[in-house]
Amino acid sequence: MRVLLIGGAGYIGAHCALAFLDRGYRVGIFDNFSTGSMDNIPSGCEVYTGDINNVDQLNPVLSLGWDGVVHLAALKAAGVSMTEPEIFARNNISGSLNIICGCSEHAIKHIILSSSAAVYGEPKYLPIDEQHPTNPENYYGYTKLSIEGHLDWFDRLKGLTYASLRYFNAAGYDLQGRMQGVERDPANLIPVVMETAAGIRSELQIFGNDYDTADGTGIRDYVHVTDLAAGHVLALEYLVETQTSITVNLGSQSGLSVLEILDKSREVSGKSIPARISDRRLGDPAKLVASSAKARELLGWEAQYSDLDTIIASTWEIYKGFVK
Ligand code: WQD
Repeated sequence: MRVLLIGGAGYIGAHCALAFLDRGYRVGIFDNFSTGSMDNIPSGCEVYTGDINNVDQLNPVLSLGWDGVVHLAALKAAGVSMTEPEIFARNNISGSLNIICGCSEHAIKHIILSSSAAVYGEPKYLPIDEQHPTNPENYYGYTKLSIEGHLDWFDRLKGLTYASLRYFNAAGYDLQGRMQGVERDPANLIPVVMETAAGIRSELQIFGNDYDTADGTGIRDYVHVTDLAAGHVLALEYLVETQTSITVNLGSQSGLSVLEILDKSREVSGKSIPARISDRRLGDPAKLVASSAKARELLGWEAQYSDLDTIIASTWEIYKGFVK
């Protein structure tokens, strides 16, 4: 089987490449290398450089005959999506439509979308299941939800089956140390904590400690990227076997607070990791935790590496190499 990972040079994409290779797939990578890195790409992958907004670059690659496409090429900074919606509209919506139309026109039967818990917005109940209302609080979440809607139409009209995987908070690194690239200028908690531990940043700002949680800081559902990657392999195999589209959450089903992440990072790294309490970040809910019962039931997916120790230890294993 041949699978094309669009955005496959990124953090999640490269881990997906490892998972598909480990499963015996032939893997192609299509990436514009704007944020991804050639260093991330495991050996044995076919690499195609191009942009999803350039159909003259995209379509010749889509025409090479793929059993499935995984679409991971999206901008994900929710805060930036609220100040610069134009780049999110062009990349996350127009670029995704180029991929969907290209798959349809080149007889590709299955597509997997890297979607996000951001489609849900402020939780009405916890844990969040796939029946939860979808009211995204930021434009990034809306771009993901809108692409899910287009996929549903292309399934109904053209038989392009899809699996939309709604990631909660992706974290951790390959346990065999096969991934060395780190995100440039991250905004997410764990890479920011790790940059502070490595001395790349002077301190961590804790965005509010007055939430209605046990220690007052925000709680999120962190899911190990290796677990996420395994979900993509299982999802493609589900589509091939059943020819039926699905939308599922991928989360650990357990919540961790900012302070729990910080305390474990200090313990594992042995670094002081200076931190101070600052104002809440606009749009941050107090707590987000997934129900992944549907992924377990339909795909047989289980989060195996998404515990606090494994997530922090596997991340520090990479960042300790950058200590100043
Ligand atoms: C986690 C917690 C912050 C940074 C985002 C996107 C979402 C998805 C995952 C792609 C919160 C706190 C953070 C910092 C902090 N992206 N925090 N100081 O906001 O849950 O989700 O990434 O799909 O769409 O919104 O992740 O890591 O930014 O924040 O205190 O410097 O850490 O308030 O409680 P978030 P995050």
